[in-house]
Amino acid sequence: MVSKTFLMVKPDGVQRQIIGDIISRFERKGLQLVGAKLMRVTTELAEEHYKEHKGKPFYENLIQFITSGPVFAMVWQGENVVDITRKLIGKTNPKDAEPGTIRGDYCLYVSKNIIHGSDSEESAVREISLFFNEDEILEYNKDIDVWIY
Ligand code: TYD
Ligand code: MG
Repeated sequence: MVSKTFLMVKPDGVQRQIIGDIISRFERKGLQLVGAKLMRVTTELAEEHYKEHKGKPFYENLIQFITSGPVFAMVWQGENVVDITRKLIGKTNPKDAEPGTIRGDYCLYVSKNIIHGSDSEESAVREISLFFNEDEILEYNKDIDVWIY
């Protein structure tokens, strides 16, 4: 079933100028970008977004990191988009992430693992509404049968 998910290039990915490569990976898979913005995450938003991790040893560091510089927030749409994007992103800890995945290809440390992706349909709905207004998410048909160039 076609659904949506929330993906976010974290401050390390923005600083390393790999936003374009990350977008390309999802585009070439056939997924559709329906919302995107470069933004700063406030401490309030970071705490709400990561509330499931409150109290864990890495929590304070995580909040500090995600608010430390601009992030690139995105909404992607497609068939099984949550599962597929989690696969393309790879395991949370880069040491376990397979080569070919984003985390497998770009990073070494779990605390700086380049990208966030919603882990279920429910968290996708919650996270999209946290980061995006309804009018920032576009509806359009990319599969039109007319050549535009
Ligand atoms: P988590 O939701 O478990 O991972 P994912 O991003 O794959 O859904 O954790 C959220 C973020 O917290 C994770 O991307 C990086 C950070 N983190 C650490 O810094 N140390 C850790 O041991 C874990 C589990 C996560
Ligand atoms: Mg998670």
